[in-house]
Amino acid sequence: MKEERGSWGSNIGFLLAAIGSAVGLGNIWGFPYKMGKSGGFTFLIVYLLLAIFVGFVIMMGELAMGRKTGKGTIGAYHDLSKKFKWVGWLAVFSPFVIMSFYSVLGAYCIEYLALNLSNLAFAGGAIMTGSDLFVAMLTNPFGAVIFTLLFMVICYLINRGGIASGIEKFNKVGMPALFVMLVIIIIRSLTLPGAVEGLKFMFVPGYAVEAGFIEEAPGFLTVLATAGGQMFFSLSLAMGAMITYGSYLSKKESLVKNSVIIVIADTIVALMAGIAVIPAAVATYGPSAALSGPKLLFITLQDVFSAMGTVGPLFGVVFYLLVLLAAISSAISLIEVISTFFMDRAAAKGKTGKRGKIVFWTCLAIMVEAAVVAIDGLGANGMWVPFQNAFGIIGEFNDCWLDFMDTLSEGIAMPLGALLMSIMVGWEIKPKTLLEEIDPSGKKWLRVFFSACMKVVVPIGMLLVLVGQIDTFFHLNIF
Ligand code: PHE
Repeated sequence: MKEERGSWGSNIGFLLAAIGSAVGLGNIWGFPYKMGKSGGFTFLIVYLLLAIFVGFVIMMGELAMGRKTGKGTIGAYHDLSKKFKWVGWLAVFSPFVIMSFYSVLGAYCIEYLALNLSNLAFAGGAIMTGSDLFVAMLTNPFGAVIFTLLFMVICYLINRGGIASGIEKFNKVGMPALFVMLVIIIIRSLTLPGAVEGLKFMFVPGYAVEAGFIEEAPGFLTVLATAGGQMFFSLSLAMGAMITYGSYLSKKESLVKNSVIIVIADTIVALMAGIAVIPAAVATYGPSAALSGPKLLFITLQDVFSAMGTVGPLFGVVFYLLVLLAAISSAISLIEVISTFFMDRAAAKGKTGKRGKIVFWTCLAIMVEAAVVAIDGLGANGMWVPFQNAFGIIGEFNDCWLDFMDTLSEGIAMPLGALLMSIMVGWEIKPKTLLEEIDPSGKKWLRVFFSACMKVVVPIGMLLVLVGQIDTFFHLNIF
């Protein structure tokens, strides 16, 4: 059965795939902006502490759950727990919801890649401003759907290839390429006059307020919730991704070492992405530059490339290709969570689930929901959105389908899933069940660290993150 299921070709292949899953849009547009806005260096310290005491622990736990049971998310929860076996469903639901907008954002990257390629060919560079281009793209639902389809076809072709000859192969080329491109963009960004302001925004505590980037520094609990939410999303946790990837990992490999490397690599790339994009944006536009989310990527940075003259489109091509690679390598891990579930289920019934067919139906189902997000165009096309302005409190975070899907998955399902997982591991099945898998030699420090974190630190941390998210989403202002 194990052979039929497939496995990674090598540990480095697994690592690159896991890092590929972790490194994504979250690193490029989430981390740098949140870091600057939430107090620069202070945020970094909070983030690192959370990454060590929560992220690293959950990472080991998830990889162990997958490898111990040899099953994807739903199967793993089912085998391990009586009371929490339904949590697996949550961790398959979230990737499905996340993919509804992740694929559309991937499609936008392809559109901007095409734009810069054509600017390179026809020197059309600065004809339109970034914001005009963005609006033109959003109000063209047909184009958005076609490019979302293209993005999904690319993912389908990779996932169809399987673990070693699809996902691993892609990441083995894609991740090193991404790294090289990131270094190129960093060099360009830091050599722009005025780049140092951007570095100060990111790293100097309080600078964002002082220099007028934001009006007021957020309170500590808000910072904690922001850093916690970001860390989960960025490390691909509570989404079944690491359980799924872990289920294909050989028993020989060290889960502790692999988890350390994944967490460190993801954090380094997030910092590097910040150094690549923020100084360039700030050098060109100062404190008034839009530095967060889709605006940063598709308005501010496009303007930066347009302002660079003849070589601009070339940097544009490199940059959007880089972001596209990051998006694909994360998307394929989300798709794999869903398709592994169906393959395991077929195997449990004694059938051999045909990967190609399962991946096809998974991608098709995602395409249907993604079409809604694509047509909505971040709310530009006046579509109806569930719960919009409900109770007069849900507004800002529910302006469009993308925000709605994001709130549902990243905002609520992810921290809730992590909270339930830590309660299950810490209190129901007990940490030792997973520790046997994580470290068969039974090192004492690891046992104490893992147990204390799973039992106490993670549940409290997750509860705070969850309350913080709800507080922000619903404008309750508890914090
Ligand atoms: N970690 C990815 C990012 O930073 C997103 C992701 C979340 C991917 C969960 C897989 C699972 O963009």
